[in-house]
Amino acid sequence: MDSDLENETPLAGQARDTERGIKNSERKISRRKCEAAGVQTPWLALAARPVNWKCIAESARVSEHSATGVAGAKPRGLIPQASKPAMNLTTTYLGLKLRTPLVPGASPLSEDLDSLRRMEDAGASAVVFHSLFEEQIRGEDGTLLRHHTQGEASRAEVSGYFPKAGEFHYGPQRYLENLVKAKQALGIPIIASLNGTTFGGWTMFAREIEKAGADALELNIYSIPTDPDLSADDIENGYLTILASLKAQVKIPIALKLSPFFTNFARFARQLDQHGADGLVLFNRFYQPDIDLEKREVSPTIKLSTPDALRLPLRWIAMLHGRVRASLAATSGIHSGGDVLKMLMAGADVTMLCSVLLRRGLGQIGVIEREMGEWLEAHGYDSLAPIKGCLSQQNCPDAGAFERAQYMRALAVERAIEPEQ
Ligand SMILES: Cc1cc2nc3c(=O)[nH]c(=O)nc-3n(C[C@H](O)[C@H](O)[C@H](O)COP(=O)(O)O)c2cc1C
Repeated sequence: MDSDLENETPLAGQARDTERGIKNSERKISRRKCEAAGVQTPWLALAARPVNWKCIAESARVSEHSATGVAGAKPRGLIPQASKPAMNLTTTYLGLKLRTPLVPGASPLSEDLDSLRRMEDAGASAVVFHSLFEEQIRGEDGTLLRHHTQGEASRAEVSGYFPKAGEFHYGPQRYLENLVKAKQALGIPIIASLNGTTFGGWTMFAREIEKAGADALELNIYSIPTDPDLSADDIENGYLTILASLKAQVKIPIALKLSPFFTNFARFARQLDQHGADGLVLFNRFYQPDIDLEKREVSPTIKLSTPDALRLPLRWIAMLHGRVRASLAATSGIHSGGDVLKMLMAGADVTMLCSVLLRRGLGQIGVIEREMGEWLEAHGYDSLAPIKGCLSQQNCPDAGAFERAQYMRALAVERAIEPEQ
């Protein structure tokens, strides 16, 4: 277990459900890091599930959902305690009408059917399934893991949550089986996640994912170009080609999960939009390599985020809102109801939660929903519509606020801060 994560154990006295969530998450991270795959995911029998949410008559849930037409209307007879019928938190992402903008992002949490159910019970409005990697689809045929043969910098960078050759939990077939089981068990939409970097036959697997019942597909292109001969155009065209080939395979919506590191991100986002990306997920959080002084080794670590990480996606979502047709999902550093509201004001359609759930447990989804509801109520709102994009660059009274012009002001403020003694 990484010491960073060990330090992040929950406070004593948290609700039992939350505590179980933390243990579950830690177990999975530990499993992923230490055993590096190989372990069978414990997909529990559908019936063997402890009910830890207030049980509302099944008909109540059915009528609630059928009245709103909200995705996730499969009648399981439970609604999260946090939901307040008076507050309308609905949003639309990738054409899916969701009960709230709270969507657990791709992580090992979705490898386990029990966790998935608990996320739904805690109020998740949809969930991004953990990633299936290009290399898993290609198989062990010698074309494995281009990342791992590219160079030291690249290798250190990817080895955080990205498996090495032979480290995968299971193959594509299991991924599909798990997807089918999750679809049967949950009422909320499931967004499958593919992780790849090169154009090739592996993209045809998207068809199987669609057939397995995924409601949408998120493509995480996680590549760190280290070849100095590659131009920005080469790199961007590579992304567009993968997108085009996936679009040719499936009808379900496709979102791209991106890094912020492009020469002109606004232009590239528009290009993806024009090439049919249904959503943009901003941003992939990079797992930076560190150096272990004693061992004189590069040591990749997975650090869970803090809310500071939200500033980067906040800025770019604010810049893109109203300028692209694609839905916008915010990921990185979203830990509280306030963080979600900020992202919505910038123009996000949904917010994806990861570190906060790994650190504090799945019950945090309900806490965040409650925080949002309380803020909205206190400020006289009864839905998200009036705040959505109200502080995007287009709508912001100070349009330069998201650009470098404000840097001068920030520096001036900085100078006024007393240095620590
Ligand atoms: C342990 C862990 C595993 C992750 N696995 C994946 C993955 O398989 N696919 C993916 O696209 N993102 C993955 N991510 C990235 C998260 O989905 C998320 O985008 C990122 O952590 C930023 O959100 P956060 O600040 O809430 O953690 C992972 C993150 C963590 C911490």
